[in-house]
Amino acid sequence: MARKRILTGDRPTGPLHLGHYAGSLQNRVSLQDEYDTFIIIADIQALSTNFDRPEKLQVDVRDVALDNIASGLDPERMSIFVQSMVPQIAELTVLFSMFTTVNRLRHNPTIKSEAKQYGFEDNMTYGFLGYPVSQAADILFCRADLVPVGEDQLPHIEMTRFVARRFNELYDEVFPEPEPMVSRVSRLMGLDGNAKMSKSLGNCIYLSDPPDVVEEKVSQAVTDPARIHKDDPGHPEVCTIFNYHAAFSEDEIENIKEMCRRGTIGCVACKKNLAKRLNELLEPIRQKRRELEKAGSIDDILVEGNRRAVEEGERTMELVRDAMGIDYWDME
Ligand code: TRP
Ligand code: SF4
Repeated sequence: MARKRILTGDRPTGPLHLGHYAGSLQNRVSLQDEYDTFIIIADIQALSTNFDRPEKLQVDVRDVALDNIASGLDPERMSIFVQSMVPQIAELTVLFSMFTTVNRLRHNPTIKSEAKQYGFEDNMTYGFLGYPVSQAADILFCRADLVPVGEDQLPHIEMTRFVARRFNELYDEVFPEPEPMVSRVSRLMGLDGNAKMSKSLGNCIYLSDPPDVVEEKVSQAVTDPARIHKDDPGHPEVCTIFNYHAAFSEDEIENIKEMCRRGTIGCVACKKNLAKRLNELLEPIRQKRRELEKAGSIDDILVEGNRRAVEEGERTMELVRDAMGIDYWDME
């Protein structure tokens, strides 16, 4: 039996942060042996909000690739590739857009909240409104079975399932209906207490942040505002630092919760403990990143990933053209 396939990935808009790590990266790494894994660096999707500065992609694409490999994805065991290098994804996007209504896209909750965040509500590009169709093509070009993602991506996986189902009904059975897989910690709070860690909100700890930056960011993070004195009883459930402990210090959370509620641990000590845990987690990632940068091998890894993705995309396109009867001539 062939292994089931995973496709997931990121928009290259800067280096990856702890929110990406908890929401998806950690899962990808632990699943890479059990599943045939494809990781997409969605550069075209990044253009949906950055079309006026495509030059940023040169750096951002490589940064995201480095963060993925440094976190433990093994280029010998999985494929990491760049969306724009796989023309079959663009072809599928056009075909899928024929039977996807504008209304369905308008009702997508993630599109709505991002439109608000970027101020696109009254004036949205066709590419931004339609990027979930393109994301469905990202997932379906390799006929993936499983998509490990953070919670905010669920509407897009729903859209992908709709596209797969509709295609199969209209033409022929080509696509599996991929399942989302949400991690234990599907969302991480921002350092400022915002519900989401996000680059555009400037409230992130990056995987590539050096140890002293991690310490400094943690020490500045928002905690329970009701704790003024060291022995005031705390409310860990509203505290950013506790949210991170819950994600990265699983073995200690009950203990920390208890001590915080009783007022027997101060926020300074609690933060020191967290910074230490985070630096232990990040040190091997930082080190691997430095090695990769030094070896200059990231471009070779991506070229090989692109090759494998194109091969898989062409296999899918043959099935698609055959199902739709748009294979008029053999042009070889
Ligand atoms: N939309 C995802 C994000 O913002 C990135 C992405 C693009 C993706 N294509 C994908 C995720 C396919 C999973 C599967 O992070
Ligand atoms: Fe947050 Fe820890 Fe302070 Fe409690 S003790 S409020 S969990 S930082």
